[in-house]
Amino acid sequence: MSKSRNLFFLLSLSVIFVLALAYNFADRNIAKLPPDPRTVNAQYDFDLRIIAAANAANAPLEGTGPLGLGRKALKQEIVAWDLEIAPDGTGLPVGSGSVSYGEEIFSEQCSVCHGDFAEGVDRWPELAGGEGTLADEDPLKTVGSYWPHLSTAWDYIHRSMPYGYAQSLSDDDVYAMLAYILYSNDIIEDEEFVLSNENFLDVEMPNANGFIIDDRDVTEYPLFSGDPCMKDCKLKVEVTMRARVLDVTPEDDGS
Ligand code: HEC
Repeated sequence: MSKSRNLFFLLSLSVIFVLALAYNFADRNIAKLPPDPRTVNAQYDFDLRIIAAANAANAPLEGTGPLGLGRKALKQEIVAWDLEIAPDGTGLPVGSGSVSYGEEIFSEQCSVCHGDFAEGVDRWPELAGGEGTLADEDPLKTVGSYWPHLSTAWDYIHRSMPYGYAQSLSDDDVYAMLAYILYSNDIIEDEEFVLSNENFLDVEMPNANGFIIDDRDVTEYPLFSGDPCMKDCKLKVEVTMRARVLDVTPEDDGS
């Protein structure tokens, strides 16, 4: 009798031990939610704004489209989604944010994944560093080392970050966080720096000239878009070389 009681006691003890262990470790790898309720509400605000716009415009009911499905998007709805910011600054809203404020809100809302200094936590993306590595076998592509236009970063953060709470940041917050990311990348050295729509284009991105502009519409398209020659296209055909002689297949590592 006392043997089974002992066994029962031991078993309960190990169950309690395992539960305590699980309780302690269960949430270790889960990113914390942003503490700011603004962030959580913003997505609902966005939906409500769209619904309010539709109501205000007295939009026709669903099912009035050509196939009896949906309806035409309202101008206000398109405007709400159309957030594009161009490299020349077109679309940038009026606003500003300092490095120091950026650091504060970055550590609240971004650092859990991207690290306190934008260096990345575990496998989450690094946003800083990697300068001079683009020609390496294993380049580190970050906002600082790789992105040619600052506008892309503004647009991206404003549109899609923080991960899971997209479009919850105010325009000023985006300027501030971007100022901090520039600072973390040593692109801006001054801690007092304030990024705004006015000095936005003055920031020089290290890889600004690292991309080739796609000019195929001018250089290649005309070559392929004319009427094709279908008859007597070449008067005389002459064999000038043979693939075997040309040795078109590399034998060694291909370099
Ligand atoms: C829960 C984790 C998480 C949080 C919090 C978070 N991000 Fe991200 N971030 C990601 C992931 C994941 C990606 C990559 C997404 C992809 O490639 O589709 C990313 C990508 C980015 C990129 C582009 C990186 C690149 O080189 O492609 C930027 C810039 C960025 N985040 C900024 C921010 C900012 C600013 C905040 C705070 C407002 C933030 N993130 C909060 C997870 C997070």
